[in-house]
Amino acid sequence: MKRYSRITGTGSYLPPRRLTNADLVTQLAAAGVETSDEWIVERTGIRARHFADDGVFSSDLALEAAKNALQAAGRSAKDVDLIIVATSTPDMVFPSTACILQNKLGANGGAAFDVQAVCSGFVYALTVADAMIQTGAAKCALVVGAEIFSRILDFKDRTTCVLFGDGAGAVVLEASDKPGILASDLHADGKHVGILCVPGHVSGGAILGDPLLKMDGQAVFKLAVGLLESAARATLAKANLTDADIDWLVPHQANIRIMQSTARKLKLSMDKVVVTVGEHGNTSAASIPLALDTAVRAGQVKTGETLLLEGVGGGFTWGALLLIL
Ligand code: UT7
Repeated sequence: MKRYSRITGTGSYLPPRRLTNADLVTQLAAAGVETSDEWIVERTGIRARHFADDGVFSSDLALEAAKNALQAAGRSAKDVDLIIVATSTPDMVFPSTACILQNKLGANGGAAFDVQAVCSGFVYALTVADAMIQTGAAKCALVVGAEIFSRILDFKDRTTCVLFGDGAGAVVLEASDKPGILASDLHADGKHVGILCVPGHVSGGAILGDPLLKMDGQAVFKLAVGLLESAARATLAKANLTDADIDWLVPHQANIRIMQSTARKLKLSMDKVVVTVGEHGNTSAASIPLALDTAVRAGQVKTGETLLLEGVGGGFTWGALLLIL
């Protein structure tokens, strides 16, 4: 009998400090940076984001999301034999945020590692966990996206600092004889490293280069709209399904205009798209599991429905994943 992997629980967590566009506009104005609520809403759909307080790390956000996902799955930490954390804002250079999370959860002993694919990280991590479950390398995985992007934002650069937020989302993925994850399609093209990056690094006890986020927004936008459609189509083809089989699109939450464009290309009405960018901003690897958990808990997305997850991000990386919830 074929061995599948299925999501058995979802969870998420947002740090309590919420900044509306108005809060951010006031804060930036004090530093001489001019922006407006109108610009941010019109160009991105973002109305608010959450920022973690000093002393809080990605593993702390991941821990809360993971606990919620385990509770929803009716599992405890001791059932988990694999933890994958997708993050570009790890607690430390090493060890991985997954190992730190494992210890905080008290789930010690199974495999634990991070995946670094920026905003595509959750789709990458879920694909790896699915493969490990299918081969029998794992039985019960915790797959998490957790980010504190507020720490790598340049608050003098209005083209990027208004876009991102902090948060975490998680799923419990378990072996099953019934189909859950149906297919996925992952890609990267390293020639686009420079259009979205944090170029600094640690060397000899010092930070060399600029450790803040740089993005050529228009270049990312143009690449994203084309690549998301091709990854979505390739994933559907692998599962022998078509656009019409998608109940819900759960896209990376970067910009409402990118989501509208993808929905149009897949002939999906916006009623079929989970949109949380307004309240979360772009939380990079956390955005898809945050959106998924929000939709599940709101009763919007239901067990048995077919979901297409998709994301693009620094690298350049992109991918899509189709599943039955
Ligand atoms: O998560 C990884 C993937 N990331 C993404 O998907 C992001 C993709 N890119 C985008 O979402 C959009 O390109 C942005 C939201 C970043 C920018 O939107 P845009 O429509 O591409 O704006 P633009 O860069 O063409 O800028 C238009 C104008 C410029 O002024 P001029 O040159 O027309 O006078 C900018 O200087 O808007 C100006 N501008 C701002 N104005 C007020 C840029 N940022 C701001 C701002 N407030 N925060």
